[in-house]
Amino acid sequence: MDKFRIKGGKALRGTVAISGAKNSALPAMAAALLTAEPVALHNVPKVRDLITMAKLLACMSATVSVTDLPSSDYVIEAKTLNHAVAPYELVKTMRASILTLGPAVARAGVAHVSLPGGCAIGARPVDLHLKALEQMGAEIATEHGYIEARARRGRLKGAHIVFERITVTGTENILMAATLAEGETILENAAREPEVTDLVALLRKMGAQIEGDGTSTLRIRGVEKLHGAEHTVIPDRIEAGTFLVAGAITGGDLTIKNCAPEHLGAVIAKLEQAGVPMETVNKTTLRVRGAKKLVGSYMTTEEFPGFATDMQAQYMALATQAEGTSAITETIFENRYLHASEMVRMGANISVDGRKAVVRGPARLSGTTVQASDLRASAGLVLAGLVASGETIIERVYHIDRGYEGIVEKLRAVGADIERVHAPSEYAA
Ligand code: EPZ
Repeated sequence: MDKFRIKGGKALRGTVAISGAKNSALPAMAAALLTAEPVALHNVPKVRDLITMAKLLACMSATVSVTDLPSSDYVIEAKTLNHAVAPYELVKTMRASILTLGPAVARAGVAHVSLPGGCAIGARPVDLHLKALEQMGAEIATEHGYIEARARRGRLKGAHIVFERITVTGTENILMAATLAEGETILENAAREPEVTDLVALLRKMGAQIEGDGTSTLRIRGVEKLHGAEHTVIPDRIEAGTFLVAGAITGGDLTIKNCAPEHLGAVIAKLEQAGVPMETVNKTTLRVRGAKKLVGSYMTTEEFPGFATDMQAQYMALATQAEGTSAITETIFENRYLHASEMVRMGANISVDGRKAVVRGPARLSGTTVQASDLRASAGLVLAGLVASGETIIERVYHIDRGYEGIVEKLRAVGADIERVHAPSEYAA
């Protein structure tokens, strides 16, 4: 099991190119199940979750071809969809597998998808996905850990759906299902994340009729059939946000290119509030420099356009270096502070009480061995390691490989002293 070894204290300088968005490429790949024709996706990040999604689609008898020059281009073709089963072996490694349920039942009339189990950051049920599909006339049965969704009369029907709470993949799942349903579907309290808007752009290219993207009310008029399309996935705003914090926390000077500044409004505002000089160089480039003095403040995670929960751990790392007290409130997931105790092991002053965390700084961090618990927690620990004195070893970095393309190479290219250590698994036979 690989580890990262980081020697902290280096100011990062130079340019980082951002990859495509994992959380946009995943639903885009699932959307290919909606048509028998090829769907070509460009700028797909080379991260493990996309490989898992490709395996999942292949399980459902789609062909997936990948070209790696320099970012991944995928061509997915689900000529037939008569085996719409998402096996537990794959689903247990990636909850986003649930994104195949909506398109598969809409296209094939029936789908079997393993229920995603719990997750380090929260229970993460999918009840809102299932309730909405039922409203669209699907019969839902869960047995032996699998969801079976079957469209009455073989086709879903449009419905007026009001989500009890905003759900990103829930919105994406039902949005895809509604494109082939009979009649109109209205989704209220829908997610407005840029990844949802990007999915709408792809679905429109496939012939779907959708209005309201970017708002919390989506209107979808179902069509008989969708066709193939070509689409370039948006940049990864969470990867970009992570590098913005890396530049700020190390007191460096980083240019972040191939990003979408308009997707990072809340993050940029929070960093500026903390005293970080930010510059929008052009439509796809941001520049961040070290702050004269980082100051603590409050931060509450929210759905887009609020401050993303996927940036909370990175913000906490920054707060450990800020003057004064920072108060963090995590409103999206009930158990998303696993990185805090690892940062405390490095010398941070953090107290957690339920969904609230209080960080007092600045703290002098010192390197030690820490455990990554999930994708974004790992990113927070990498940032803490970049400012800690001495050597930090981060174990279980398979978490970070799920969602960051070449993070070690990108950090080394701007001066970080970081390396990946291939360690044989102590559990290997
Ligand atoms: C998406 O997860 C992202 N994943 C997550 O990114 C991100 O943290 C999250 O949205 C919030 O922004 C992908 O896009 C693949 P939700 P998702 O449904 O859709 C509750 C990363 O690091 N809920 O918006 O699973 C749920 O438990 C990942 O890249 C229900 O109660 O999140 C949570 O508390 C981590 N019932 C809240 O809603 C449901 O049926 C929001 O979850 C669905 C959700």
